Amino acid sequence: MSLTSGANGVDIVALAKSFGPARVLDDISLKLAPGEFVALLGPSGCGKTTLLRSVAGLLAPDAGEIRLGVDTVVDASRRLFVPAEKRHLGMVFQDYGLWPHLRVKENVGFPLAARGRPKAEHAVLVQAALRRVALDHLADRFPGELSGGQQQRVAVARAIVDAPRILLFDEPLSNLDAGLRDTLGREIATLVRSLRTTALYVTHDQAEALSLADRIAVMRDGRIVQLDTPERLYHEPADAGVAAFLKAGSLVDGVMTDGHFRARDATDSIPFPSPLQGPVTLLVPPAALRASTGGELRLCVETAQFRGDRYEITARWGRHETAPRLHFWLAHGLQPGQEIPVAVDATRLRLFPSTSLS
Ligand SMILES: Nc1ncnc2c1ncn2[C@@H]1O[C@H](COP(=O)(O)OP(=O)(O)OP(=O)(O)O)[C@@H](O)[C@H]1O
Ligand SMILES: [Mg+2]
Repeated sequence: MSLTSGANGVDIVALAKSFGPARVLDDISLKLAPGEFVALLGPSGCGKTTLLRSVAGLLAPDAGEIRLGVDTVVDASRRLFVPAEKRHLGMVFQDYGLWPHLRVKENVGFPLAARGRPKAEHAVLVQAALRRVALDHLADRFPGELSGGQQQRVAVARAIVDAPRILLFDEPLSNLDAGLRDTLGREIATLVRSLRTTALYVTHDQAEALSLADRIAVMRDGRIVQLDTPERLYHEPADAGVAAFLKAGSLVDGVMTDGHFRARDATDSIPFPSPLQGPVTLLVPPAALRASTGGELRLCVETAQFRGDRYEITARWGRHETAPRLHFWLAHGLQPGQEIPVAVDATRLRLFPSTSLS
């Protein structure tokens, strides 16, 4: 008996959903290849959970289609809606969702009973799923006798026990502390990949999405604004809003004139080859800045925060209080108020029309 189901893709086409007058999903199309791990990333209220619940069958969209593998599970134009229990999915929620009065093994076995799997198979499948999350020794405990991380592992075991076609995760790590988030995130990604199950993973944490997913769909106001690999998303954000959300660097408002960028209230300008003219927003990733005696910018250090292996420097670009702040890394600390020459690697800078932040 295997936990692997054979990979199914997901195809979401022109999905829309409104609650009253509020359009929460606005023409969402998204295709996941079989076995792909895609993160849905976006600020609170942008529609991530609504999209996930639509795929799960817990919510009926107003328009659009969803296909899981070769099966159409939603086609709003034909009023086709396959209910959640017939979609054969595994789901993991933020709050674990375990039944407190059932033992770990009973919680994990619940989907098998619900789907009418022969009783004789249950024990073996439950044991196999618990082994995948390294909890087989706790099978007889109740959820209340487990730590938060262990409870979430039980929820993961329950999600995979019946070899689901797709795995859905809604912020599974947000109730855990930082160290555990890291470990369990890595475990989930490794497990999902070893099962070769397609996964849609909701988070509002950019570091989590960047480190776990094959591709990331960045959502804003019910739309997908960019769908890309973590690397491309980080280095080539579609607009200043995406760059801000990914924490890809300092965003500086300014003006482009004849191939030079001048920040508002800054003294010096940076040569930058771009056809853009007028108001713009410049993205300055930390890696674009390097302290150097011959550097073209003179920055004034505000803070130098010790981060163990390096210092995170925040420095003002210009004399005015209102001058923009730039962030970069240094091997050594600096005193606040100190002036420092900094070289700019223009190939790492990105320029956006300034309207794109709205
Ligand atoms: N059942 C509902 N009735 C009315 N409005 C809803 C309902 N469910 C969600 N909404 C609204 O739809 C919008 C999107 O909600 P959703 O839960 O999808 O956001 P989210 O991106 O998951 O946010 P978060 O990161 O906070 O979980 C929000 O403005 C929310 O208030
Ligand atoms: Mg949500």
